[in-house]
Amino acid sequence: MRIGVTFDLRSDYLALGHSEEETAEFDAEETIAALCDALKSLGHEPIRIGGIKPLTRALADGQRWDAVFNICEGLKGVSREAQVPALLEAFDIPYVFSDPLTLALTLDKAMTKHVVRDAGVPTADFAVITTEADIAKITLGFPLFLKPVAEGSGKGVNARSKVDDKEQLESVARHLLKQYRQPALVEEFLPGREFTVGITGTGLEAKVLGVLEIVPLPKFIGHGYGYENKETWEDKLKIVRAEGPEAQAAGQVALAAWRVLRCRDGGRADIRLDKNGLPCFIEVNPLAGIRPGYSDLCFIANFEGLSYQQLIGKFLDSFLKRHPDLK
Ligand SMILES: Nc1ncnc2c1ncn2[C@@H]1O[C@H](COP(=O)(O)OP(=O)(O)O)[C@@H](O)[C@H]1O
Ligand SMILES: [Mg+2]
Repeated sequence: MRIGVTFDLRSDYLALGHSEEETAEFDAEETIAALCDALKSLGHEPIRIGGIKPLTRALADGQRWDAVFNICEGLKGVSREAQVPALLEAFDIPYVFSDPLTLALTLDKAMTKHVVRDAGVPTADFAVITTEADIAKITLGFPLFLKPVAEGSGKGVNARSKVDDKEQLESVARHLLKQYRQPALVEEFLPGREFTVGITGTGLEAKVLGVLEIVPLPKFIGHGYGYENKETWEDKLKIVRAEGPEAQAAGQVALAAWRVLRCRDGGRADIRLDKNGLPCFIEVNPLAGIRPGYSDLCFIANFEGLSYQQLIGKFLDSFLKRHPDLK
């Protein structure tokens, strides 16, 4: 197949003057090169497109592809991840990974938690602070955990995210509202082990690829796997393959959320154990990072004995099951 590849390259946005943190979710050249190589070795012809603006120009020029492999994170708005898939749907071009509904929903962690909780998937009790007046209305029991409602890559998660009393809640909530210009999500703090679950496939055919545990070391900052811990993780945490009943239970919660949210082809979900040792859904990443030797999903594949090419192959297999006419 001729497969267009849509992506947001971090260096392009840095060159345009955007900050390190603003561009934290964007991809490195190495990722695009590895993805294109993998597609080639799987017998396809990758065609680099870029982000939504070059995609729009290419579509207006009349360019078309059999399929698009989309890893665009988008820059603007709470539905930014949904923009490229929506455009591709309008032009009837099939693409790998989730649709606009799922990508818009899952970027908002509170909306996502409403949906998974309604379906009976365990998740920490929560509230949303939209304005400063909401802070006084919080009735959840301490300790609590705060983060921006719609960010990724650990943005806004740091040493102050866990709050133990009203004063800390007030000051962190005010800071998040101001700094991130969006509501803050406040959740019951989950004190237990943290897992991240790799998933491949769609719907009932989705499977747990593997489970990792994030094990904090003494230099770990705060209580969450936040931006600083993620960017320079080597001395702060260990990432280990997780087995045993708790990891398996985490995998099942992740898979249940994956299906409820109609995520497709492959990605990751984060899970933590609550004070009773029961796994709770934190968030899902239907556009999980796929940087070789760096992204959690690539570690998971590696631990399970899959090469990078085989991982990409699994996403494509799931995509092709949804589009049997393309085979
Ligand atoms: N309710 C919570 N209790 C304890 N830790 C949490 C909670 N929510 C998030 N965290 C911690 O913060 C990290 C980042 O939160 P997450 O929602 O996964 O954001 P991101 O999209 O930035 O990965 C998690 O990996 C976890 O370590
Ligand atoms: Mg996460």
